[in-house]
Amino acid sequence: MTVSDELRERLAKVLDPELGASIVDLGMIGDISVDGAGHAVVAVSLTTTGCPLRIQIERDVREAALSLDGVTSVELAMGVLDAAARGTLMRRARTFAQERAPQTSIPPQAPVLMIASGKGGVGKSSVTANLAVALAQTGRTVGVLDADVWGFSLSRLLGVRGDVQARGGKMQPLERAIGTGKIRVLSMGLLADEDQALLWRGLIVQKAVAQFIEDANWSGIDYLLIDTPPGTGDIAMTLARLLPQMGQLVVTTPSPAAQQVAARAADFARKSNIRVLGVIENMSVLTCSCGQRHHLFGEGGGRDLAQQLGVPLLAEIALLPEIGVGGDTGQPAVLHEGNDGAFHQLAQRILNDVAPPVGAQGCTARLLDALERAVDSPL
Ligand SMILES: Nc1ncnc2c1ncn2[C@@H]1O[C@H](COP(=O)(O)OP(=O)(O)O)[C@@H](O)[C@H]1O
Ligand SMILES: [Mg+2]
Repeated sequence: MTVSDELRERLAKVLDPELGASIVDLGMIGDISVDGAGHAVVAVSLTTTGCPLRIQIERDVREAALSLDGVTSVELAMGVLDAAARGTLMRRARTFAQERAPQTSIPPQAPVLMIASGKGGVGKSSVTANLAVALAQTGRTVGVLDADVWGFSLSRLLGVRGDVQARGGKMQPLERAIGTGKIRVLSMGLLADEDQALLWRGLIVQKAVAQFIEDANWSGIDYLLIDTPPGTGDIAMTLARLLPQMGQLVVTTPSPAAQQVAARAADFARKSNIRVLGVIENMSVLTCSCGQRHHLFGEGGGRDLAQQLGVPLLAEIALLPEIGVGGDTGQPAVLHEGNDGAFHQLAQRILNDVAPPVGAQGCTARLLDALERAVDSPL
């Protein structure tokens, strides 16, 4: 073995601090040469020029190289991965994460979609509830996990009540039939009362969310929708770690300010290696009884955010009094919506191209393809 081969082997032990995988396996190490005097030149490509972990990676590579007997000095040729190499890196990083992820009862072919936003009150929970019902109306079994531990609302929005039973050591989500399909719901609202949950902090909350995933019976579901608390805190991190297959839908209102906040959630997603699959604009327009349209919260926020993230704008959901009322009565507005309504259309887009159930499509490649397109925008 030549010294440069040995060096490559040594560098394979250096991990990317963010992705936790070998920088050689991730494709970040290019040409390596070592001359007769022991001077090594190593080409290192990062995901972005401004990579905040650059210094750590440089130091680790240098140390690994100098730890080799035949190497006396090291020169790093720093570069940036091109789009294709970055795509490969993301694919590999996901595979590694999947291998490390814990076993859950979530069927591997069921898409897991996290509904996120930068701030509260934009309609995440309303969108989650109505989308879940719209998907269930197509005959699917849709798991709904309310990971908004402090602001839980899904059990109320979806009209499910009762005690969560444990069977075989697993929490059984509460079920509600919707047409030929059903929803299966787990929410802190079903386990603890509001005052209790408010006292929970940090680790306890992360553990609770982890239990909802690891110690719950999600077998048989076709989709899992996860409603999250606003922002980019510990809960989202826990979800990202436990569910590397997860994709994210970002909800925003049409105002440019909200769009910026939502962009932060998307930014977090990319850093945690979560795919952003699309943007949903909520509270887009109010049509009054006279037929006039009012843009109460501005215009264009969803479109601009989608463009900025390089993902599709999946829906523009109008301001509808039914959405608020339906939430209060546990009868989501989508139950009374026509087939051409916004939530039905959103469900169709998810089923047909954003995240088709793998089994139904019979073609994993197509799903991966759609996901790849979603991550293919600049980091
Ligand atoms: N498209 C809409 N039209 C009318 N009211 C809506 C709409 N979307 C959400 N709401 C209302 O806005 C409030 C906040 O929505 P919610 O779904 O709880 O937001 P989040 O989960 O992001 O905090 C609720 O009272 C809800 O009924
Ligand atoms: Mg909410």
